[in-house]
Amino acid sequence: CPIARIVVISNRVAVPKARGVAGAQGGLAGALNSALKEHGGIWFGWSGAACEEFTGQIDLQRHDGVTTATIDLPEQDVEEYYNGYANSTLWPLFHYRLDLTEYERQTGMGYERVNERLAGSVGPLIEDGDLVWVHDYHLLPLGERLRARGIDNRIGFFLHTPWPPTNLFVSLPFHERLVRTMLAYDLIGFQTETWLESFLHYCRKELGAEVDEASGRISFEGHETLARAYPIGIDFDHVTAQANTEAAREAEERLRDSARGRTAAIGVDRLDYSKGLPERIDGIGRFFDTYPDRVRDLVYIQIAPTSREDVDSYQDIRNMLEQKTGQINGARSEFDIAPIRYVNRGYSLAELCGFYRASKIALVTPLRDGMNLVAKEYIAVQDPEDPGVLVLSRFAGAAQQMDEAVLVNPHSPDDLARAIHTALDMPLEERKRRYEALIKTVRDENIQHWTKTFVSDLEA
Ligand code: G6P
Repeated sequence: CPIARIVVISNRVAVPKARGVAGAQGGLAGALNSALKEHGGIWFGWSGAACEEFTGQIDLQRHDGVTTATIDLPEQDVEEYYNGYANSTLWPLFHYRLDLTEYERQTGMGYERVNERLAGSVGPLIEDGDLVWVHDYHLLPLGERLRARGIDNRIGFFLHTPWPPTNLFVSLPFHERLVRTMLAYDLIGFQTETWLESFLHYCRKELGAEVDEASGRISFEGHETLARAYPIGIDFDHVTAQANTEAAREAEERLRDSARGRTAAIGVDRLDYSKGLPERIDGIGRFFDTYPDRVRDLVYIQIAPTSREDVDSYQDIRNMLEQKTGQINGARSEFDIAPIRYVNRGYSLAELCGFYRASKIALVTPLRDGMNLVAKEYIAVQDPEDPGVLVLSRFAGAAQQMDEAVLVNPHSPDDLARAIHTALDMPLEERKRRYEALIKTVRDENIQHWTKTFVSDLEA
């Protein structure tokens, strides 16, 4: 029988010009093209643009075998749904940051309104037999809104972020109402077993659902939902092909030249407080404090394109990072070298691959991260004969698959300094041994594997 079409629904739709920045600018954008090409179907979401009044008018485009359908949202919706509930309530809460979580009923209402609007717009595009696949924390109630419109297709949901422990999650007013809506999905995917366990725990303890921990089956009010972990991977062939382009070679050479004999360490992150950037800079400062004679051995390059700039906590983190970088450079620079380069812009994937190859160390040290694809991209493009060292936070989802990296506690400057020291002096043999274990996971558990397992579970 013919394979089912897929209707992907996410807040951001990866339009072709946004492609090539998956790891650096968020895991979701750019991740689903191959599945859509194979199955056919539609990718639906917000256009990213604000309009005066909601019209629901859909902009349909077809590029490179994938049809995208986007709608504009009114200013107030963007403020309440995107900047507000999604990025000032759910994002910090899901990253265990109660100190940054805002609890405003007004934005919660905007979130529900936009989910209803999106359901109303995408509903008529869904045909019998389509598989519907909803993504991320912006759209938790979307499946239930579709059900309310009589859509009885298979509907799956994947959360790209962590799911917090129950005792944090219950700080959310109406938490029960939100999770009840999620149980309208047939299948719910998480990045790791840890977030899956937290979700199952919540369903059992707070909702009183019947939960079979071993299979992930949740029975609640006559409906059954299956919850499982599906760790997302990278498009390995695409990334390695990008690493072999002229743009990558040029970027690699320029970074090597500019390092002038020093070992380059690199960090590539959206400028987000979950990424542990000020903590990382503190760790680098501690490294130089502990080993002052090594200031001529190491240069750290931080690429951090700005993100969600209309949210206060993002402005705060930017200021803090600038201040810390300035302090360390002030204290540790010499007339001809500065130990930290902080670049506030994004690069193409090809250029990033070049930077990854020129950097003998990558620092991927989020305080909390659903997965983190930079860690995987970095490993994917290393030279097998002379691979670099990945320093990885134990709190990134990726650490559950990549324990051959140098694992660190990103809160501890001493631990970071120790890891940098270890990485800098690691013998070739040990680098190769770690790399060989890591590359296997990155190559085999790639994005095609991820989409295939999720989609076939949804179908079954
Ligand atoms: C994370 C989220 C994605 C989001 C991305 C970029 O990876 O899980 O859903 O698209 O960040 O953030 P933005 O707010 O720019 O879409």
